[in-house]
Order: sequence, then C-alpha cells, then structure tokens
Amino acid sequence: MGRTQIVIVGATAPEIIKLLEAINKAGVDEYEVLGFVDDDQNKHGQFLFNYPVLGGTALLANKLRGCAAINNVAKTSEVRSNVLRKLRNIGVTNLPPIVHPSVDLRHTSIGPATVIHEGCVLGPGVSIGENCLLSFRATIAHESSVGNGVIISPGVIVNGRVRIQDGAFLGAGAVILPYCTVGAWSVVGAGSTAIRDVPHHSTVFGVPGRVVQVRDDAEKKSSMTPLNRQREELNEASQKILQRI
Ligand SMILES: CC(C)(COP(=O)(O)OP(=O)(O)OC[C@H]1O[C@@H](n2cnc3c(N)ncnc32)[C@H](O)[C@@H]1OP(=O)(O)O)[C@@H](O)C(=O)NCCC(=O)NCCS
Repeated sequence: MGRTQIVIVGATAPEIIKLLEAINKAGVDEYEVLGFVDDDQNKHGQFLFNYPVLGGTALLANKLRGCAAINNVAKTSEVRSNVLRKLRNIGVTNLPPIVHPSVDLRHTSIGPATVIHEGCVLGPGVSIGENCLLSFRATIAHESSVGNGVIISPGVIVNGRVRIQDGAFLGAGAVILPYCTVGAWSVVGAGSTAIRDVPHHSTVFGVPGRVVQVRDDAEKKSSMTPLNRQREELNEASQKILQRI
C-alpha cells in the first residue's frame, strides 16, 4: 500500500497528530503528514508538534493540489461546515474518514471527512454522516444516526435510537437519552442530559436539560436551504410516527 500525502486543515487541536501516528503504527493506512494549513497568517511558518504550518488553505488549490486533507476545525459546527465547503470549492476531493484503530466499525457506516478519535464506541446499526468530529471516548449506541457536520465532544453518551441532526454540537460528557432527536445546529451543554427532543437551533443545558436559547441568526439562515428545512421537518414527523408504531 502506498503512502498517502495528507494535509491537516486547522493548526489548532494537536490530537490529530497522535491519531494519524496511531493509524500508521497499526498499519491500517499509511499517511505521510506534510503539515498543517491555516488561514490565520500569524501561524504560518510555525510548528505544531514538529509539523509545519505550511500556509493558507489556498495551497490545496495549487502547490498541494491532489493531496488528501483532514478537516481539523472544531471551533463551532458552523465554522467546521464552512471549512468543508471552502475546501470543496477550491477543488479538494480527497477527504478520507480518519478513524483511530481502536474503534470497531463493524455494522456501522461513516461518511467522508469524518474524524473519530481514540476510544469511541459505536453500536451496531449506527450511521455517521460526513464531516463529523467524534472526540475521545464518545459512545454512540445502537441504531443511532448522526447527520453531517456534527461535533461530539469527549465522553459524550448518545443512547440507542437517537437522531443527531446536521450541525449539532454536543459538549463534553453530555448524555442524550434513547429515542431523542437533537435538532439541527443545536448545542447541548457540557455535562448536560437531554431527556427529550431538542428543537433545532437551540441551546440546552443542565440536568435535566432545559432549552435556554433559541437562535434565529444569520448562520441559521445560511446553513439551511428552504428545501433542506422542509426535508428535516418531514423527517422529524415520520420519525415520530415510526416511534409510535
Ligand atoms: C452550553 C454552553 C455552550 C453555553 O455557553 P455560553 O452561552 O457562553 O454560556 P455562559 O458561559 O455565558 O453561561 C451562561 C449561564 O449558563 C450556565 N451554564 C453554561 N454552561 C452550562 C452547562 N454546561 N451546564 C450547566 N450550566 C451551564 C452558566 O453557569 C451561566 O449561568 P449564570 O447566568 O447563572 O451565571 C457552554 O457552557 C458549554 O457547555 N459548552 C461546551 C464546551 C465543551 O464541552 N467543549 C468541548 C471541548 S473538547
């Protein structure tokens, strides 16, 4: 198997280096890490855990064209999704899922550009979309689905038959009870427990989780087309009917 040259987008969280080294060590894949790219010019020329920050993302459109890329941006789900969009707009197509060798992927499906860190447990029938980030020791129990661009922080427990919709952010140690739906672009606070459905674009925290904020901002408008919104609403309605059967 040949070595794949890969570039990390976002020179922040250095855990990605350990993840790639673990994959190489286990012999699952063989990545040659060229370094980071980041649009913060102050970082250019610096080193992060011995890997250089080579320049901005535009490099992937010219000098580094053809390299594989990893989305390592996790500031917010909106920012992470915008980064993926930007990469695709400049022609980056090789965005492999990056999964720690400790993670058992049998009977699960995951999309491109999704990163899964050490110690995550995925139950049978779990599906995870594209561009998600699952941090250390997150658990997603059986038959749960995770949409696109979802950020799942360390130690999160998603119970069985849960739906986490596009762009949701689950804070460290959050717990989502069985059958709940976490709506698109919602936030569940660190250490909080969602005991019922979380409406889309809302922030929930506490035990039991309570909705403390519903966002109706520009990000929301840009992140969902009317067609997508209609699709989400139809999905929600059909899931509710299925749960009652
Ligand atoms: C929920 C969250 C997004 C709210 O952030 P915020 O809007 O900046 O909220 P603030 O920090 O201003 O806090 C507002 C109030 O909510 C309370 N609060 C905030 N987060 C809370 C949480 N997770 N659980 C319980 N209460 C919380 C604060 O105590 C504060 O209460 P007060 O008004 O009585 O003083 C944030 O606190 C959170 O949990 N983020 C997740 C962080 C994380 O896990 N990151 C992963 C790192 S790997």
